[in-house]
Amino acid sequence: MSSSSIVAETFAKLRQKSRTAWQSLRDRPLILVGTATCGRAAGALEILKVIKEELEKHGIDARVLEVGCMGHCYAEPLVTVYKPGFPPISYGYVTGGIAARLVQDFLGGDDPCLEFALAALETNDMVPALTDFPRGMIEKPIILDKCGLIDPEKIEHYIALGGYAALARALTREPEWVVEEIKASGLRGRGGAGFPTGRKWETCRLAPGEKKYVICNADEGDPGAFMDRAILESNPHEVLEGLAIAAYAVGARQGYFYIRAEYPLAVERVKKAIEEARQAGLLGTNILGSGFSFNVDVFQGSGAFVCGEETALIASMEGEPGLPRHRPPFPATAGLWGKPTVINNVKTLAYVPHIIERGAQWFRETGTAGSPGTAVFALAGKVINTGLAEVPMGTTLRQLVYDVGSGIPKGKSFKAVQIGGPSGGCLPEAALDMPIDFDSLSQAGAMMGSGGMVILDEDDCMVEIARFFLDFTQKESCGKCTMCRLGTRQMLDILEAITKGQGRPGDIELLLELAEDVKAGSLCGLGKTAPNPVLSTIRYFRDEYEAHIKERRCPALMCRELIAYYILPEKCERSCDACVGSCPVEAIYPNEDRIKVIDQQKCVKCASCLEACPPQYKAVIKLSPPELVAERGRKVNIP
Ligand SMILES: Cc1cc2nc3c(=O)[nH]c(=O)nc-3n(C[C@H](O)[C@H](O)[C@H](O)COP(=O)(O)O)c2cc1C
Ligand code: SF4
Ligand code: SF4
Repeated sequence: MSSSSIVAETFAKLRQKSRTAWQSLRDRPLILVGTATCGRAAGALEILKVIKEELEKHGIDARVLEVGCMGHCYAEPLVTVYKPGFPPISYGYVTGGIAARLVQDFLGGDDPCLEFALAALETNDMVPALTDFPRGMIEKPIILDKCGLIDPEKIEHYIALGGYAALARALTREPEWVVEEIKASGLRGRGGAGFPTGRKWETCRLAPGEKKYVICNADEGDPGAFMDRAILESNPHEVLEGLAIAAYAVGARQGYFYIRAEYPLAVERVKKAIEEARQAGLLGTNILGSGFSFNVDVFQGSGAFVCGEETALIASMEGEPGLPRHRPPFPATAGLWGKPTVINNVKTLAYVPHIIERGAQWFRETGTAGSPGTAVFALAGKVINTGLAEVPMGTTLRQLVYDVGSGIPKGKSFKAVQIGGPSGGCLPEAALDMPIDFDSLSQAGAMMGSGGMVILDEDDCMVEIARFFLDFTQKESCGKCTMCRLGTRQMLDILEAITKGQGRPGDIELLLELAEDVKAGSLCGLGKTAPNPVLSTIRYFRDEYEAHIKERRCPALMCRELIAYYILPEKCERSCDACVGSCPVEAIYPNEDRIKVIDQQKCVKCASCLEACPPQYKAVIKLSPPELVAERGRKVNIP
């Protein structure tokens, strides 16, 4: 029998066994509880306990599975119930009480408790399905398609739903075919720079040398990004399969997952996945009888942002300080231990099995000509539905913010989106209708980055946002390059002065000049992109910088030193003392008319009075510049 037939036959048996195991899950009601980090943070482990106790208490025979993240992080804890005669229904914001009701009334009786339902997972005439919502019409899950629906610690679930078929298929073809297929798909690296994956693999494949490595980069250090963690926690086999296919394509026999140690659940689930794949003959020696052997280990990073940069990552794996190195040579020709090495992001590798299984042309049918496929975004900040979304490249920011994210909370207005993490930029409202992909974003002065998206509203000060991100990169700079180490420090000093009302004429020009110097004088992407948040905020929100510098005024009323709290005498309800009781420093006192007044010398600007003042009065406001308080006080004759 040929090697290809052995592979096909061995895999067919494995898949049949897995399908049988998967189908047997439905022989009784099934409850899925999302226990990825987002679920756990919202109390999912407690919900899991309640469900198990209630099943036991009521003698109900049902299976309970722990699954990963479905992307609806805003509604965690999330529980999905499969019961014969009903569509599969997901319930959001589940409390212990709701969990108990689901067991007693739905599983024990026939009341599906629709008042707690988020959506059904299939179209039906009882409950609206996820695909009936605007969000469901925009999303196109490829790499998130199984997240939240399978137990990430059960390889048979992944295999039953099509997993590892692509590896089996690849092993029946020549490695060159695999490289060509990935090249033809137009897949671009999802780790930030968007480099063509096929070209990287080809370079590594053609590089001389027997020993080669493949590495999955799961460092994910950007503030606001959590896509890679969610994928590894929810479906680690998809990434592992992609890594194995990469290894076969380039001729590597050893691979690594580089995961930050702050992701303990991802580390645990990836280790478990490696072990399961080994047991199933999908890793190790002579995989599926193909003659190809490949092993994988996990390396835990220590959490420095710069260690996500590929050459710093390699240095840290080699036991050296995590400092970036000069390129060329690029890792594809001289990487780990000087050997040709492919480094790919978690999401890049997750696409690989889908492309090998369904073909390069299929992949190109989604997305834009220059950026085929989908993009996974982590929506965070001032948006109603925070969480993950996988949408075709070319989707507009408006669709993401309003249709997927359901808009801005508390009736506030959209101001900007910080996209691409600290290397990215802030885009204003005018960019809402821009279709986003790698190229359009960089033209607009931002970056796709790894897909972190922080949405900002009218209360966010753009100078402060730029200061926040620069503060992050400044602290994370490894210090090797003078311009990155000291140039970002100087820029940060200027931004800090501006947010404190100590900005000087010419500061904006100085920031622009320093930004160019930092970009030009930095070795790695950290320094080269660190000025982006400053440059993009100056480009789109220059008036806010000018207000801070020329008028000592923060238009968003956010910069602490440029605001003061003030109680409107005409709105203060004399008999109400809510603000007085809320003030931690006794800065509020009644005047002779029992109208409350704030002693500005004592006030520590904690905002408690603003929150304590009953909504029907709304007497406490913020003013900027702080001098306005004295002006207003004089008008109403208040000391
Ligand atoms: C400061 C810095 C941090 C980075 N962090 C990550 C990261 O956490 N994950 C990642 O995949 N790529 C990161 N990158 C990009 C990597 O250097 C590299 O380009 C990427 O892993 C290649 O994978 P891809 O081709 O699949 O995108 C970072 C780059 C820089 C400059
Ligand atoms: S650019 Fe910054 S982070 Fe990168 S090597 Fe230079 S000093 Fe280190
Ligand atoms: S902002 Fe805080 S410290 Fe200032 S008056 Fe209000 S409650 Fe007191």
